[in-house]
Amino acid sequence: MDGKTSEKVFYITTPIYYVNDIPHIGHAYTTIACDTMSRYKRMKGFDVHFLTGTDEHGQKIQAAAEKQGITPQALVDKIHLNFKELWKVLNISNDDFIRTTEDRHIRVVQAIFKKLMEQGDIYKGTYEGHYCVPCETYVPESSMGPNQTCPDCGRPLTMMKEESYFFRGSKYVPQLIEHYEKHPEAILPHIRYNEVMSFLRGEVRDQSVSRTTLKWGIPVPGDEKHVVYVWFDALINYATAVGYLDAPEEFRHYWPAVRHMVGKDIIRFHCVIWPLMLLALGLPLPQSVIAHGWWTVDGEKMSKSKGNVVDPFKMVKDYGLDPFRYFLLREVPFGNDGDFSEAALVGRINSDLANDLGNLLNRTLQMIESYRGGVVPEGNNESGKSNIMGSVLENVDSAMESFAFDDAMKEIWAFIGRANKYIDETMPWKLAKEPDKAAELDAVLMNLYEALRLAALLVAPVVPQTAQRMWAQLGLEGDPLKMLYDKFSWGEGAGTKIRKAEVLFPRIDVKEWQKAKEEKKKMEEGNKAPAMEHEAEIEIDAFKAVEMRVAQIVKAEEIPKSRKLYKLEVDLGYEKRTVCSGIKAFFTTEELKGKRVILVTNLKPAKLCGIESNGMILAAAVKVDGNAESLTLVTPDGDIPLGSRVS
Ligand code: MSP
Repeated sequence: MDGKTSEKVFYITTPIYYVNDIPHIGHAYTTIACDTMSRYKRMKGFDVHFLTGTDEHGQKIQAAAEKQGITPQALVDKIHLNFKELWKVLNISNDDFIRTTEDRHIRVVQAIFKKLMEQGDIYKGTYEGHYCVPCETYVPESSMGPNQTCPDCGRPLTMMKEESYFFRGSKYVPQLIEHYEKHPEAILPHIRYNEVMSFLRGEVRDQSVSRTTLKWGIPVPGDEKHVVYVWFDALINYATAVGYLDAPEEFRHYWPAVRHMVGKDIIRFHCVIWPLMLLALGLPLPQSVIAHGWWTVDGEKMSKSKGNVVDPFKMVKDYGLDPFRYFLLREVPFGNDGDFSEAALVGRINSDLANDLGNLLNRTLQMIESYRGGVVPEGNNESGKSNIMGSVLENVDSAMESFAFDDAMKEIWAFIGRANKYIDETMPWKLAKEPDKAAELDAVLMNLYEALRLAALLVAPVVPQTAQRMWAQLGLEGDPLKMLYDKFSWGEGAGTKIRKAEVLFPRIDVKEWQKAKEEKKKMEEGNKAPAMEHEAEIEIDAFKAVEMRVAQIVKAEEIPKSRKLYKLEVDLGYEKRTVCSGIKAFFTTEELKGKRVILVTNLKPAKLCGIESNGMILAAAVKVDGNAESLTLVTPDGDIPLGSRVS
């Protein structure tokens, strides 16, 4: 906005996250990657705009709100805060946070829908297809999983037919292919480019962009029984946030200098649907879409049902913020899938952070303190510049330019490694004992100090707090994150008074860590033990003494005054009985009628709520703190006459 040239504008976005999910490492990963890139580009002098936010409409939110008995708006107002809180904890430097339920966004979506309708690129038709309710997407037959299941989540698909508005995206496909042919760098990494191109060269159909099956969405202008399809709504956030409607000048400033970072699962939305929408709107296409891979955990897919979802809040609490940030970006070549394990994280903390970086800082500061009274000496720094610094600046820059975060880290750590080796080779403790080697020692200390000053600057985008701590210990003023990359130099530190060396990253004792983990696991298992309590062993005769038979519930009635019991009439074939059963919380009387069950028939009769109960039906329950949370009746598998004995 202030006359900076357009090459120096950098607008970067994360996907907007579904609020119904608990934030996990997948979300943390994309956002940390964008944060690191934003901080890097700011240091490169770019005018950066970093956007993240939440995707708040759709079926799942509507269903969850109904379940909780609150409005969808009240629900999203509450749960979007999980993401805001996480970004604070992860030290994310976003410039904006957009929510799709905000008025600024709703107006843009409606304006775009209307414009496309008026120019004939949105038209009304009928849509019929296999729909995945949880994923809110129609699945073409060619991509369905076995037994008509969703290829993404594996759940069964539902056949749906509805009146729908369609976006005439197919019209713009040749234009998009031509664009990608001219700009292969628009989709990174290249493997994703091939995937998108082969999709585009196949049959791309017009997109259904409205729904009548749900209410929680942005109303279609002029036809309010339709709401805008969540993806059509969500993608537009990228335009809303930089003023598509409200601030055209700002919009022209940031568009199309935009990079969308996404997971590989949502590449088609970003590399096909969104650009087709932009072409229809007559807008230039984004600079690039960068797709990263997926994290598994200890070799397995992360899922709520497996209980292995990695909680970033917990990782930060247990291992510290910067180690977590560093690990995510260092461990996996960007674009590939990666496996998360705490053991690997501990390994990186000990080797890369505590050993390589932490020790370099500690050893150097201590030597400057004891050999030169804490003041950085003036010395010849040419050898350090060529041997330690080398071409680290150029190499890091070229890795970062292609979003190869792991390569950038490798370059930085190779540089740190050269500095550590330099200590071993020059042996300053020996030089210190020989007065005629004072100038040599000055040069060594100066070069090491410079290596650390540069290291603090280079690591700043990925581990900002660490860089600031290093900066302070090095006795430097200001904020390393505010320094400009192009001004980084070698040999400016002479005369600086350093501060006291403090441990940057405490080493984790692996044996102790493993022991603590095992103990914790045992404790967690111990906590579950009461639910698995076993009865004392019995003789077979004791079991035989329990008479159990197949029976059928013929009638179920409420018992006034009882919150838990139903009065059941059960048929054993040879007689009918009355049984009181504590299953009211789990079934309606209608559901019970006709059910075949197993009845304990020789229990001593008992009076419950004034009714004589003659037997007990068998059921299995999941108990939490002694209370049944869910319950299922034990029923015979197959046809068998009533009264048959169970043994
Ligand atoms: N709301 C849509 C995006 C709309 S953008 C206009 C959505 N949201 S999401 O919350 O389900 O996913 C957001 C991002 O998290 C995606 O980029 C997805 O790839 C990423 N991840 C979800 N699980 C992941 C892993 N296990 N590993 C890495 N990233 C993963 O899709």
